[in-house]
Amino acid sequence: MADTDLDRAKRRFLLTATTLGCGVAAGAAAVPFVASMLPSERAKAAGAPVEVDISKLEPGQKMIVEWRGKPVWVVRRTPEMLKAVQADDERVADPQSTRSQQPSYAKNEYRSLKPDLLVLVGICTHLGCSPVDRLEPKPEPFAADWHGGFYCPCHGSLFDLAGRVYKNKPAPDNLTVPPYKLVGDAKLVIGDDTQGA
Ligand code: FES
Repeated sequence: MADTDLDRAKRRFLLTATTLGCGVAAGAAAVPFVASMLPSERAKAAGAPVEVDISKLEPGQKMIVEWRGKPVWVVRRTPEMLKAVQADDERVADPQSTRSQQPSYAKNEYRSLKPDLLVLVGICTHLGCSPVDRLEPKPEPFAADWHGGFYCPCHGSLFDLAGRVYKNKPAPDNLTVPPYKLVGDAKLVIGDDTQGA
């Protein structure tokens, strides 16, 4: 990653997560995954849900959380970002996510339970690279009229701010939305969408 990219990433990423029964927060921006906490790594690898404190996630910010050994992105979208998603309908290959993976409650225009909160598995559906975020709408080397989203440097797939893959790119499907639920406004649970638990 170039220095400027790293600086940008440091500013933008708010790396915070908690696991079930544990309220520890980790704030080191250069750490790709949150440090180990309860339950054990073995339990997490086996699929234990992960609780995330999203109370400090500001509009326009992104967090990365580890779940089942995968990076999960949590983005607090601004109203402008939601408009960009609407504007991308013509650009993306599967605008209604009919062939892409997401829970039923995220099979909607914004691919989310609540419009402002985007939750995605950050692994490219082509060959498994992790795309980089380019959240701001501005000309990019790979797209002069970029609305914001994610860029996979491995083979050039582009994803919009709902994780929908652009047309004519190698990735076949939109980024996966994992199961999740919200507990109040401050807590996100990844890996468990049962209600009343
Ligand atoms: S792995 Fe992302 S485009 Fe190939």
